[in-house]
Amino acid sequence: MSKIWAKKPMSAYEADIQKSELKRVLGKWSLTAIGIGAIIGGGIFVLTGTGAYYNAGPALALSFVIAGIACVFAALCYAEFASILPVEGSAYAYAYGTVGEIFAWIIGWGLILEYAMGSMTVAVSWSGYFAKLLKMFGLHLPYWMTTDPGTAHKAFGEATKQLAEGKLPADKLQGFQDTISNFNAAPELMDFKLFLNLPALLIVLFVIWILLRGTKGAAKANNFIVILKVSAIIFVIIAGLFFIDTANWTPFIPEATTITENGVTHKAYGVAGIVAGASAIFFAYVGFDAVSTQAGEAINPKKDVPFAIITSLIICTVLYILVSLVLTGMMHYSDFNPLGKYPDAIKAPVAYAFDIAGQAWAGYIITIAATIGLISVLMVMIMGQSRIFLGMSKDGLIPATFSKVNPTSGVPRKNLMILGAIIAVVASLTPINDLAHMTSFGTLFAFTMVCVAVWVLRVKEPNLVRSFRVPALPVIACLGITINVYLIFNLSKEAQMYSLGWLAIGFIIYFLYSKRNSKLQNGGYGETFKAEQQPLEDVDINIDNKE
Ligand code: ALA
Repeated sequence: MSKIWAKKPMSAYEADIQKSELKRVLGKWSLTAIGIGAIIGGGIFVLTGTGAYYNAGPALALSFVIAGIACVFAALCYAEFASILPVEGSAYAYAYGTVGEIFAWIIGWGLILEYAMGSMTVAVSWSGYFAKLLKMFGLHLPYWMTTDPGTAHKAFGEATKQLAEGKLPADKLQGFQDTISNFNAAPELMDFKLFLNLPALLIVLFVIWILLRGTKGAAKANNFIVILKVSAIIFVIIAGLFFIDTANWTPFIPEATTITENGVTHKAYGVAGIVAGASAIFFAYVGFDAVSTQAGEAINPKKDVPFAIITSLIICTVLYILVSLVLTGMMHYSDFNPLGKYPDAIKAPVAYAFDIAGQAWAGYIITIAATIGLISVLMVMIMGQSRIFLGMSKDGLIPATFSKVNPTSGVPRKNLMILGAIIAVVASLTPINDLAHMTSFGTLFAFTMVCVAVWVLRVKEPNLVRSFRVPALPVIACLGITINVYLIFNLSKEAQMYSLGWLAIGFIIYFLYSKRNSKLQNGGYGETFKAEQQPLEDVDINIDNKE
């Protein structure tokens, strides 16, 4: 049993790095762009309305500050780790060398929620934006081609029930009737209605195609998209300034209350509302840690990965705070009420605020930027997941297919293809969006574990060479752990329950497969268990630059 706590020796990391077939092509700004590419997505354009109306009011900017600080604590810890272990695999790899195999496995398993499940939900959001974009140009995609079967059947069932009960207001009645006729219009195959989220499927295949061509090309595409979406955000901030009514900011922190809707009670306003708002908008920050999954392809990982993690997070935090100030200045927070005078404002708050200001064209720009911007979120997330699988596969915890790197492109081809197929199928055929909160769970879980692990390593191996050291580590790690755990408890009960179920499945797989095939357990890393006690003082893992 004790073997499950075995740690991967530092010598094994060094050997991994020397043998790595990945190409080191990423400089510090490409890595920073990868961070921004993963962070800025639909979150900022969508969740701001929810955060303002249900939780924080005009003080939404403070929710962004709190979530940003929670991420900075974790980011600093990631940065210290990346400066010691410049390997792909992110939190999984860090945990393997410090807290032991079983922890590493469960973190790696949890990261699937962040990266693979995150990719699926991003693909579905992209499909929504794409359909909206086409609609702006007068093109309508049929319902059956943009909806997964589960969602279509659920909506049909609900509409049938509501219509049977009767007494619906005219606007709702029309909506339910449309749902039923959309459902009936779907083509049939042997009595089965066919539904498929085709745009979600195609965008995943497109991203996989880019990724298969090599990391350098993917990084270039990402740089381009990042410039575009950061410009769009700066545009929102500057253009929005002209429509701010400062009266909307008063009182900046409305009196605390609760809002109950559809059986869900939200902590609204006051300090509790601001903190709850931080959980609500947390998804907008998800992604900066993706930089650490690319350490195996960084030219100078020990310096540039910490730099990129922290820089990308700071840039996005500043942009997010400004966007939320502008938004709550343009529109009164109570106008995001889905039952109020602008029932649709909460679905696309930023674009809507410009609409109300009589600047509908700005809404077009935002929709185009979000549609293109989400492609880079998807790209970085899938790339990140493939590198985590690569690390786990090298250690024998998942099958060897995932660690084969194609010598020409320098990327794990089969790994990407299998991953792409799974993500495309799940995104296009299941109601995955209902599970989006699990992505935040996986992320917060990994952040917490990284804060724990970096502290453990500092205590156990104080003399290990670190090119970046977290200042006042015990304080930062404690705060990081506290805030991240608190945010986990603020996620929906369903997300917590399903995520714990996911981790339980992970434990079963570990004992049935991973432990038996682990390279570490089978002596593949040499004198493993002696290595556990071996002091790591002055170990400095060298990078052999390969381009
Ligand atoms: N942070 C990313 C987004 O907001 C995942 O879409």
